[in-house]
Amino acid sequence: MRRLRKENLRFLVRETKLSVDDFIVPIFVDENIKKPLEISSMPNYFRIPLDSVVKEIEACLDKNLKTFILFGIPSYKDEVGTSAYDKNGVIQRALRSIKSEFDDVVLITDVCLCEYTSHGHCGIVKGTQILNDETLPLLAKIAISHAEAGADIVAPSAMMDGMVKAIREGLDNEGYKDTAIMSYAAKYASNFYSPFREAAESGFKFGDRKSYQMDFHNSNEALREVELDIKEGADIIMVKPALAYLDIIHKVKQKFKFPTAAYNVSGEYSMIKAAIKLGWLNEDVIYEILTAIKRAGADLIITYHAKEIADFL
Ligand code: PBG
Repeated sequence: MRRLRKENLRFLVRETKLSVDDFIVPIFVDENIKKPLEISSMPNYFRIPLDSVVKEIEACLDKNLKTFILFGIPSYKDEVGTSAYDKNGVIQRALRSIKSEFDDVVLITDVCLCEYTSHGHCGIVKGTQILNDETLPLLAKIAISHAEAGADIVAPSAMMDGMVKAIREGLDNEGYKDTAIMSYAAKYASNFYSPFREAAESGFKFGDRKSYQMDFHNSNEALREVELDIKEGADIIMVKPALAYLDIIHKVKQKFKFPTAAYNVSGEYSMIKAAIKLGWLNEDVIYEILTAIKRAGADLIITYHAKEIADFL
């Protein structure tokens, strides 16, 4: 076995190779700030002011990163997340300004309510309940407004049942048949999202997300979620988080052979950065974990490490 491990031969038999095309860069666009703002629980990751978003995209294009997922931090929140589908909302304005500058970028938008609602939940709330069917038309409305503003792909992350179907029908009815859907199909109620909730100001004011996001004790349930989303019209399916969920990525890819994305989430980024900062791990660990996510079966990886891995590659 050691013959092919020699330094000059090992690349010949390498089964998994990372490419910059594998990566999707998350961008937090904040309409309330004037300068980039570092997220304290995510070292070296920033919220970007609306008028610097073009510059940020340019910096990524310089590294050959051309696919982005946008998250918005709005100036106004209410019970029903009105600013999520506002024509002049933060994401809609960001989309238009990026699309007017660059032809070759791929823009994905997170379609959810939690960043836009005063209670921070991903759906319409009644008492302490998160209502499913009442939320669906709103998600469709958000997706349509993103498509209208230039999104290439919409990525529903609310984990409402039937959301992919509602969004597909909404897009088709409004003439956006070519807008693709990347569904957060197997999204777990995970403890690894807490830095994101600081980053996107999307923490919930009561309860938790366990009534809509998946229970991490389960894996067969992930296959059912993915199957439903494919039937409802998803073009790409996603597993989230990634690192503690490599088994799920593997099973999903093996079973469906469908374009599969994995979300290497905020907490996964933060723990690696913290260990590197302390000198307990060296930076090459980033390359190792991203390779592992691809080896497990992911075709695409959403990661806050995108810029550093692009430099490395
Ligand atoms: C919105 C959303 C969340 C993440 C992506 N979209 C937060 C959540 O569900 O609470 C988390 C991403 C990350 O942790 O990096 N629903």
